[in-house]
Amino acid sequence: MIPVTDPRIEAYMLELTPESDPAILEMEKKARETGVPIVSRPVGRFLSLMTYLKQPNLVVELGSGFGYSAYWFARAMRDRGKIVLTDYSERYMEYARRVFDEAGLSCRAEFRVGDALQIGREYGTIDLLFIDLDKYLYPEAIRVMLPNLAKNAVVIADNALWRGAVVEGGEGKKDAAAIREFNEFMCGHEDFFATIVPVGDGVLLASKISP
Ligand SMILES: C[S@@+](CC[C@H](N)C(=O)[O-])C[C@H]1O[C@@H](n2cnc3c(N)ncnc32)[C@H](O)[C@@H]1O
Repeated sequence: MIPVTDPRIEAYMLELTPESDPAILEMEKKARETGVPIVSRPVGRFLSLMTYLKQPNLVVELGSGFGYSAYWFARAMRDRGKIVLTDYSERYMEYARRVFDEAGLSCRAEFRVGDALQIGREYGTIDLLFIDLDKYLYPEAIRVMLPNLAKNAVVIADNALWRGAVVEGGEGKKDAAAIREFNEFMCGHEDFFATIVPVGDGVLLASKISP
């Protein structure tokens, strides 16, 4: 394992950006207690920042878990925009709906239970696509969703460095191989300008640059 961010740097970043939103704190506690994977808080802030900058009308999230990353998008949406949450788990979607309701953010969200790749392709002109489902599905996810992206769409994918396994230790492992394939596809594709931001477990960030 190669840590993407030194824990001292991560601690410094957390100290700089204290969080008091009860929904964020509740979901972080739930993740700690249940072991359900969520994006790190610095990645959550990154997602909010991208939302402020991009001001998307439509965000589609592939793999929402119980709604933590989606909450960071929705909270930054001000008075317009919608996020489509997708997950296999009905229980997670019910939980997310409750959290969004209490925060007054349900008007910014659609909660969809089922296969994210089936649901995602129902939406066209996607301004921002966030990929955080099973890692072996990343290459298929971008190929399926490519025709549904808006001009100038932004694509963000979590775990792009997979705790260093894209560089070392991932040999013969299907998740590491899929993430490598995805990163190479995005960085080599003429329709995208992409990079990997070393925050959290690595976040691939791409802008669609051709129609
Ligand atoms: C890493 S978790 C998502 C965490 C979430 N993005 C967050 O940061 O709060 C991945 C989720 O994707 C869901 N998932 C994986 N593959 C899926 C698929 N093909 N369709 C729907 N959900 C999927 C799993 O059920 C799991 O809850």
